[in-house]
Amino acid sequence: MLIDIIAGARPNFIKIAPIIEAIEMRRNEGIDIRYRLVHTGQHYDRKMSGDFFDQLNIPAPHHNLEAGSGTQAEQTAKIMIGYERLLVEKPCDLCIVVGDVTSTMACSITAKKMNNIKVAHVEGGIRSGDWTMPEEINRIVTDAITDYFFTTSEVANINLRNAGVNDDKIFFVGNTMIDTLYRNMPRFQRPAIWDKYELKEKDYIIMTLHRPANVDNKEKLYELIKEIVRSSCGLPLIFPVHPRTAKMLETTGIDAGNLHVIEPLGYLEFNYLVKNAKAVITDSGGITEEATVMGVPCMTLRDSTERPETCTVGTNELLGTDPKNIAPAFEKLFSGQWKKSGIPELWDGKTAPRIVKHLIDLFGLD
Ligand code: UD1
Ligand code: UDP
Repeated sequence: MLIDIIAGARPNFIKIAPIIEAIEMRRNEGIDIRYRLVHTGQHYDRKMSGDFFDQLNIPAPHHNLEAGSGTQAEQTAKIMIGYERLLVEKPCDLCIVVGDVTSTMACSITAKKMNNIKVAHVEGGIRSGDWTMPEEINRIVTDAITDYFFTTSEVANINLRNAGVNDDKIFFVGNTMIDTLYRNMPRFQRPAIWDKYELKEKDYIIMTLHRPANVDNKEKLYELIKEIVRSSCGLPLIFPVHPRTAKMLETTGIDAGNLHVIEPLGYLEFNYLVKNAKAVITDSGGITEEATVMGVPCMTLRDSTERPETCTVGTNELLGTDPKNIAPAFEKLFSGQWKKSGIPELWDGKTAPRIVKHLIDLFGLD
């Protein structure tokens, strides 16, 4: 059996690493299960792509569709055309997509239209309810044509059931991003900037921003950062900047003594900083999950989340996108009032082997 594994953007690489490892383990046991890694090229900078392959020991992709950047439609079209060509030349039996990026949606549609290819969606069923986000459209479209849903939470299971999906297609397995986190925690690396900015454990904030709603508008971005700087009482703010944010950030001209703007970090360095931070401030999805598992207070600059368990069980709190909500959150943090976290069900580091076990059963490979 040949499985295509699709990865295109930064969080995808982190989610596929343990799936590849689990497939290879079962293949070494003599099971007829092979994979082909397809990189769509949605992210291409070394710091957004190649470094993750090196640090997480992900094998080089078998194919790179080299879609690159573009508008939503341009990117979707380029990925679909590239992937269709590959499938026509050499079809697979199953296409595994992860997460909610454009590559996820584009490849799931392409595979499903080949008729004989099944689609599995890892992280299926999550919903923010915010249709202004491209990711929500990607999730809805992908889930509308998915054959096997591998889910991260009971909320996702409920969302799928409410959408009419039968229970026999839903597999509650946990979170592959957390597999990667547990696997690599002993390997986390202190980055060079630790000494440069004289950082101390639990005495700095790490922040990331890349959602269009926060970063595509110069005034909005400026107001958010200004308020974070104002509220953080001079603590060092480490800000590894996503390429989407970089250009706009320059135009804001913002500058503050405690704001340290740096390039995106490698996985091992970034999570070293999260683990040791006083708090995280972000609009990322994946980072709210990692902060939850590491028990680090997390403030999310979004009005909604597709990962409610990071708030109900974890350390995450939604502040919304109005800068006036930032100061009260920092006050809560500094007065030691931040909630304690638990770990969501099945986020135990063993998700990828569960997924592969289900695939072996579903495809009768034993
Ligand atoms: C994408 C995902 C988002 C995810 C994020 C992870 C979609 C719709 N969005 O957002 O869900 O959270 O990735 O990081 O799929 N760029 C570079 N170099 C790169 C990649 C991007 O410079 O290697 C710049 C380009 O100017 C590009 C812009 O970033 O136009 C946005 O990239 P894109 O992949 O379209 O979306 P992201 O904002 O990265
Ligand atoms: N990440 C990283 N370096 C950084 C910022 C993030 O390695 O400088 C990792 C982070 O640990 C998480 C993933 O990238 O595993 C999250 O990706 P991102 O925030 O880009 O996307 P989202 O999860 O919001 O889709």
